[in-house]
Amino acid sequence: MNAWDERAEAYRTSVTHATGEDLDAVVELCNPHQGVKVLDVATGGGHVARRLREHGAQVVTADASPGMQPDVVTRAEHLPFADGSIDVVVTRIAPHHFENVGAAVGEMARVSNRVVVIEDMLYRSEEEQEAEKLRDPTHVRSLSAEEWRELLVDAGLEVEQELYFSKVHDFDDWLARVGCEGEAAKRVRELLAQYTSEDGRSWSNDYIVVKARKSQK
Ligand SMILES: C[S@@+](CC[C@H](N)C(=O)[O-])C[C@H]1O[C@@H](n2cnc3c(N)ncnc32)[C@H](O)[C@@H]1O
Repeated sequence: MNAWDERAEAYRTSVTHATGEDLDAVVELCNPHQGVKVLDVATGGGHVARRLREHGAQVVTADASPGMQPDVVTRAEHLPFADGSIDVVVTRIAPHHFENVGAAVGEMARVSNRVVVIEDMLYRSEEEQEAEKLRDPTHVRSLSAEEWRELLVDAGLEVEQELYFSKVHDFDDWLARVGCEGEAAKRVRELLAQYTSEDGRSWSNDYIVVKARKSQK
């Protein structure tokens, strides 16, 4: 069992993942309705897929970890779907885990015939990246808004809409979710000092949601 499979239940029940204005926005930008075919890449606890299905969309879930119980076990960097075979391809709060985010965005653009929607935490500082990696070694890197725009355009997509959100994380819950404790937890708190609340109980980070459209060239 890999690190992700062990965490499947934690992601299914995580409030940060299961709810939020960001999730509402991602769902809205996918414009789900009867007959629309959506691929949810790195579905994790399946929160995006669940919400889209409630609107009648036909959703296929994909994830690299069998423990997440996706419809298709696959890495985002290699999607086993034909070119243009899916209307909307979405991925939420996952690209910072991808080993090759450029390849993943290229694959999402290739299999989509219409729209790609991504949400991820934004790059703000090296301290924040170090803290994220120390807490969770599966964190590869977050991108800035500029880097996101560049990646999407390079993949042949036109950016149509960008939205921004902040989330507050209770330190104890956030560290416990991935079993980060002791000296490592202490160092993570130090590295995130500039983003920490006055009472020291929580910290906040920023998220970008982008809707991009397949260029009609
Ligand atoms: C934070 S969870 C995703 C949250 C979920 N999308 C949501 O909205 O609640 C990250 C997921 O990314 C998956 N993952 C990590 N690297 C991946 C990769 N290269 N390709 C596909 N999935 C990957 C993990 O297995 C995990 O399920």
